[in-house]
Amino acid sequence: MSGPEPPLTPGPGFRLLRTGAFALTICAGFVALFAYSMQASVLPDRFSMMTHENVDYGGGPQTGHGHMGHADHEHGSSTSVTDLTGPREGVPDRRFTLTAREARIRLGSGKTIEAWTFDGKAPGPELRVRQGELVEVTLLNEDIDDGVTLHWHGIDVPNAEDGVAGLTQDAVRPGERHTYRFRAEQAGTYWYHSHQVSSEQVGKGLFGAFIVEPREPEKDEREVTVLAHSWESGNGRTAAMGASDTLERKAITPGTPVRLRLINTDSYPVTFSLTGAPFEVAAIDGTDLNAPTELTDTRLELAAGGRYDVTFTMPATPVRHGVPEGVGLGGDDHDLGLLLSSDGKGDVPALENGPGFDPASYGEPEPTPFDASSDFDQEFEVVLDNRPGFYDGNFYMLWTINGEVFPNTPAQMVREGDLVKTTFVNRSFMDHPMHLHGHHVLVLSRNGVRVSGSPWWSDTLNVAPGESYEVAFRADNPGIWMDHCHNLDHAAEGMTMHLGYEGVTTPFEAGSETGNRPE
Ligand code: C2O
Ligand code: CU
Repeated sequence: MSGPEPPLTPGPGFRLLRTGAFALTICAGFVALFAYSMQASVLPDRFSMMTHENVDYGGGPQTGHGHMGHADHEHGSSTSVTDLTGPREGVPDRRFTLTAREARIRLGSGKTIEAWTFDGKAPGPELRVRQGELVEVTLLNEDIDDGVTLHWHGIDVPNAEDGVAGLTQDAVRPGERHTYRFRAEQAGTYWYHSHQVSSEQVGKGLFGAFIVEPREPEKDEREVTVLAHSWESGNGRTAAMGASDTLERKAITPGTPVRLRLINTDSYPVTFSLTGAPFEVAAIDGTDLNAPTELTDTRLELAAGGRYDVTFTMPATPVRHGVPEGVGLGGDDHDLGLLLSSDGKGDVPALENGPGFDPASYGEPEPTPFDASSDFDQEFEVVLDNRPGFYDGNFYMLWTINGEVFPNTPAQMVREGDLVKTTFVNRSFMDHPMHLHGHHVLVLSRNGVRVSGSPWWSDTLNVAPGESYEVAFRADNPGIWMDHCHNLDHAAEGMTMHLGYEGVTTPFEAGSETGNRPE
């Protein structure tokens, strides 16, 4: 009997070769997958914000919603965003020109910044108008290569005036100009900024305050505008209030009513505090609160892109406004901010790190045009999340909306007149200040608990990790509107979507070939 031949055992050389080949194949597979994913994530050279794979008609009645896209083919009627302008006729009450150009600016400490400016200033000039006035702003671009636009953050202008490159206009190239006209209907604290490569351009200084004074301004009120911003300064970021990165002293006569207009132009929430006087939060995102009550040493966390108006009566003793140690813009920011006193001199009181301000339970309720118990025509769900992946050919932490990154994020479709409810859920590990253009939303609830204080209208709502919010708005400003995270890096890495009105079209396109890059 002869047993079976012993199996041929390959020699060590062969085994090594075989293992090597196997490993190589696996590696090649990964490389190919990597290259493919990278390639597949490259954004198209040109794309229109009107054509979507992913259209969300909400949970409302679906009658007549049987087609995709914005144009209302069934009725053959469509409006271009270019027709949704502010008043084209009439002599403006206020006329401004802003010239975008590169310039070196000097912060309060003497530190210099290579900035992108309006009129050589960063932040750009504060624009002030009176409620009801017709405003005309001409934007000139001197030498910003990527092009520039002007977006009026928080002001519900007609769509054609909204300043979004690739959606409502083309970016304004060096040597070109663009004119915006709108009526300033809402009094309050707003800001303007470029909406072309905005993550880079806003960071470098292409922004400024836009203040709409009420028709009947408060008598003798002393106003101070505070723009919280961190500047790229060679070796890291420098926190500042406007261009002032040190303590600023101002003389204010005791008894004077004071209004601080706090604007966060940074990409992260900023925590302010005010010590030395009881104060009120008079307005959020430009809208006055009902029956605000007095607060003492309360920390004010302000969403990126958001605004608070803080009012108080100047006491005989110094008042300190700033960013408390350890929170806010980071680093040693406690030397930053304002010292207000009768003669601008005096000791600097320490900032108290008191309880946090909660807009959901502050002030008194009052009737609103709709509320949580209204019948909604459309209901949307927006889940904010993150995952590593490729975006436009680069490997990033992706910031997703319902699992997708722009332009595959959902386009929410509404009809003029719809009452819309949106639920935001943040499953990621960072804050997402959600900013809807062209509308103010009424905050209905947070984490399932109804807002119990003053009506809280917002245009930039910070959704913290783990939080959920229900908000509602009336679709009363036809157009195609951006709805994005105002951490502008997140927006640039996919956390952008938009709200479209049925029947509205845009001739503009975004993408590398068009030169339009809204984020
Ligand atoms: Cu402050 Cu889409 O912008
Ligand atoms: Cu975000």
